[in-house]
Amino acid sequence: MRNILLHGDETHKFILLNESEPGEEDGIRSNQYLIQHKEHGILLDPGGFGVMPHVLSELLRHVSPGSIEGIILSHQDPDIVGGISTWLEITDAPVYVSAIWMRFLPHYGISGDKMKRFHGVPDEGMHLHVAEGFDLEIVPAHFLHSEGQINVFDPVSRILFTVDIGAAMLPVDQDYAFVDDLKAHLPFISGFHRRYMCSNRAARLWVEAVEKLDIAMIAPQHGPVYRGKAVGEFLSWFRELECGIDLMTRSGHFTTDSE
Ligand SMILES: [Fe+2]
Ligand SMILES: [Fe+2]
Repeated sequence: MRNILLHGDETHKFILLNESEPGEEDGIRSNQYLIQHKEHGILLDPGGFGVMPHVLSELLRHVSPGSIEGIILSHQDPDIVGGISTWLEITDAPVYVSAIWMRFLPHYGISGDKMKRFHGVPDEGMHLHVAEGFDLEIVPAHFLHSEGQINVFDPVSRILFTVDIGAAMLPVDQDYAFVDDLKAHLPFISGFHRRYMCSNRAARLWVEAVEKLDIAMIAPQHGPVYRGKAVGEFLSWFRELECGIDLMTRSGHFTTDSE
């Protein structure tokens, strides 16, 4: 488990709250992030049901659940949304998710009045004003991998939360918190990105959009955080990556020879 302050000053913090241990959530280790500005908090992808108690105990070191002013769900996967009904019980926070997933949410046991707390984010993304001096940009990242996926950019820390883009599944004996050199890290991301990201067109258009932001760190939902020169190196690699349907040769078959 980790609790890392990625950015912190008197008033504004970007915190990696927890990386679940191997074995939890069927071995998918995931990152949950808290952006805190004074007494206000925004929780990014709180995670599945199994990690919820850990995330809550880490959260309580920084803010009370009543200070959570928003929960952002990047997409519809269970490792993102699985614990949401419990979070709805202990906070009053509105929840933001791509508009195309709204109709699926009742299948996570959310219905009636609770659905009124959900806000559908339009395809083009949106600006989120949380409190005075606390503004976030919700940036589209569709088809990378989910058809309706959103990223979050915090202009104060200049950290971009990229969800499954940049995600790594590190072997247990290769645990590190930051990527400083992309080359050494590539073996842990290339297979995942080639199979789970939908196409180079989606990757390239996303890179063209986010490189206009002044990104200090790329914070994915799985694995270490990219910083320094690794940020630009990752964007350059991803812009050129053939993936998903680019690699389909016939139904059920993908080429595996491109790096
Ligand atoms: Fe996912
Ligand atoms: Fe994920």
